[in-house]
Amino acid sequence: MSMALSNTTHYSITDEEFSQFKTLLYDESGITLSEHKKTLLVSRLTKRLRKLELKSFTEYYNYVVHGVNGGEEFVQMLDLLSTNKTDFFREPKHFEFLAQTIMPELASQRKIRIWSSACSSGEEPYSIAITVCEAMGAKKWDCKILASDLSTRVLSHAANGIYEKDRVKDLDSARLHRFFLKGKKGDKVKAKKEIAQMVAFKRINLMNDDYPIKSGLDLIFCRNVMIYFDKETQERLVNNFYRYLKPNGYLFIGHSESLQWLDTPFLPVAPTIYQKKDVDEG
Ligand SMILES: C[S@@+](CC[C@H](N)C(=O)[O-])C[C@H]1O[C@@H](n2cnc3c(N)ncnc32)[C@H](O)[C@@H]1O
Repeated sequence: MSMALSNTTHYSITDEEFSQFKTLLYDESGITLSEHKKTLLVSRLTKRLRKLELKSFTEYYNYVVHGVNGGEEFVQMLDLLSTNKTDFFREPKHFEFLAQTIMPELASQRKIRIWSSACSSGEEPYSIAITVCEAMGAKKWDCKILASDLSTRVLSHAANGIYEKDRVKDLDSARLHRFFLKGKKGDKVKAKKEIAQMVAFKRINLMNDDYPIKSGLDLIFCRNVMIYFDKETQERLVNNFYRYLKPNGYLFIGHSESLQWLDTPFLPVAPTIYQKKDVDEG
């Protein structure tokens, strides 16, 4: 007879269990959990264990690894342990650089290929799309933005393109009007076709060394995710990005991240913006 678990059940984790979760998270997502994150892991996952009526972290580990739902639980766990925090026009200098430097550089070809590689719920790729639309003026460009993430939950939100009004409160009213539809109740907005059709969403794990993308990208955004990876993983990732960029292509990283200590041929061109300069395509 199974004992019913109450919604106040308390769980504790052994060192061995913690190390299993640590290894799983690292192997599957590249995210490093330091030893002092033990309490955080217990507090973030407790609700989930209660909901699934599991008795221990070992049971939960087995559920994540061998569960019948084909990796879905890993996504749930990832979302609980990592942050999906993002914003429209987060780190605005990047969008200014795109509008003022990169768009004029590519104006003669009017073609741009962009990858937003840890796009969370989509604010980043839609901000890129808005910037490109505003900067291209009357002449249409051939613009494709690939937006990817490891979490299928955030990706489906991103693909819906529907946001609480509060999420767009800092956009100026001209932008809001041009690029978003207002919901009937007035509490939500939806990305309009003009930007939505520029973005394609796909699940991509940055830990894979080969991505389902043709090389020849002009820009890669990889912002506020590398901070969770160790140096070795960051170096591998950044050098993979290098292969996927065209000569003179750009890499954008988060403002609290840096390539300074990594062995990579990228050259800095502005704070947290790097370029693959003057080299043959490799
Ligand atoms: C803090 S959000 C950053 C969102 C956006 N780039 C920004 O700067 O606002 C980090 C995102 O990285 C994703 N992520 C974590 N590990 C990943 C991996 N191995 N491959 C792809 N995405 C990953 C998470 O799911 C999360 O949505």
